[in-house]
Amino acid sequence: MKSLKRLFALLKLFSGGALPTLLFMGCLCALGPSAYAYPRTPDDLIEISCGEENQNARKILIAYDTIHGSTAEVAERIGTELCARGFQVDVRLAVHVSDIDRYDAVIIGSAIYEFNWLPGARSFIKKNRKTLAALPVAYFIVCSALYDDTPENREAVREAFVDPVLAEYPDIKPVSMGLFGGAVDFNTNQYTFFEKVVLKILGKLIGFTDHADWRDWEYISAWTHEVGALLQEGEYVMYENQEWNVRGILK
Ligand SMILES: Cc1cc2nc3c(=O)[nH]c(=O)nc-3n(C[C@H](O)[C@H](O)[C@H](O)COP(=O)(O)O)c2cc1C
Repeated sequence: MKSLKRLFALLKLFSGGALPTLLFMGCLCALGPSAYAYPRTPDDLIEISCGEENQNARKILIAYDTIHGSTAEVAERIGTELCARGFQVDVRLAVHVSDIDRYDAVIIGSAIYEFNWLPGARSFIKKNRKTLAALPVAYFIVCSALYDDTPENREAVREAFVDPVLAEYPDIKPVSMGLFGGAVDFNTNQYTFFEKVVLKILGKLIGFTDHADWRDWEYISAWTHEVGALLQEGEYVMYENQEWNVRGILK
């Protein structure tokens, strides 16, 4: 017990920013299982289609991956807001998508676990890389590292979680990259023992006990509207090593 307290004290010393937290979680998670990536309960899976009333509208696919549903809720919100803007949208778990040929644009989202995108989102990108390279694509991620949404944390998150994907798939040049805080909830989510241990330690580091929700819905809406405007006007810039603005739109 005493040594655990010392460990927490030591970790607190290093918890001034997102990067140490991320590094710590990455190391810890490397010791744990990572093959459990599928929505844990039926409630954690959200698949909707909307915008059928928008005749001749552009069709957007939102393909996402989640375990505990917070990313599914973000995907759903993005989808319904894009439909309200005049698009037709399918929101699907990435591993359930078999064909992306009929879409005019694709938004790909993943929760971050163990320092990485979830396997369903990664395999979706890999499988469809050729088609995605020819389409307007936007990425978004949902993670606890943005518990404190500061420019420094955004930068650390971008470097840790976005740059590796951009480097792995250079032919896919996203028009935008949404960086969103995530959520944890011991009351409603069905965590494994391993996940509980990770989250208890994270809770000590960043200050929550049984639940926290860092999703900033206004920010998510603002991002969605900016991406929607880009796709509507068809005047998007594709990624070529340039900077993103504060909302993850290319400058
Ligand atoms: C076992 C575990 C590992 C996690 N690893 C990370 C991580 O490496 N970096 C991070 O920023 N967040 C991490 N998180 C936090 C999740 O990204 C966050 O809770 C997210 O909202 C979960 O998304 P979901 O509800 O869609 O599954 C982790 C959470 C758990 C339970």
